[in-house]
Amino acid sequence: MRITGRRVLVFIVLASALGLGFSNLGMKEIAASEKGGDPVSGREIYVNTCIRCHGIDGKGTLGIKLVPPPADLTSLTVQSRLDGTLFRRIHEGKPNTAMGAWKHSLSDEEIWDVLAYVRTLGVERGEQP
Ligand code: HEC
Repeated sequence: MRITGRRVLVFIVLASALGLGFSNLGMKEIAASEKGGDPVSGREIYVNTCIRCHGIDGKGTLGIKLVPPPADLTSLTVQSRLDGTLFRRIHEGKPNTAMGAWKHSLSDEEIWDVLAYVRTLGVERGEQP
């Protein structure tokens, strides 16, 4: 065996360093916003990370006591905001609320995906502006 485990490790480290280099160019965010997020993978992210506060239908969870309460994602107030505004809210979170910054655990592409799913919550109630 000429390829040792150590060499494979070095290769993986180099490859991921290159990958990070590319995402730092900021091209990914632009590319993702142009093609639009994927609501199907966004739904999976929503169920795993957002549902415990925003509820299955996006209107908030009964019994959860947060001040301020989670935003009603189906509301016209939220749905009428621009994609960029909502992206930033999810990316950066909102200071002094339970809405944290998801940029640490979700990639830009995943945020566009979950945002695409959030858009479908408004459509279901026919409140899309
Ligand atoms: C720990 C609870 C919690 C979790 C988890 C959470 N949120 Fe929130 N979210 C909040 C609260 C509270 C607010 C309301 C902040 C305010 O008063 O403006 C909010 C606000 C928002 C808004 C802004 C609405 C507006 O007013 O424009 C969006 C969009 C949003 N959340 C999406 C998400 C998404 C997507 C996820 C999952 C990645 C998520 N949230 C996870 C608690 C949460």
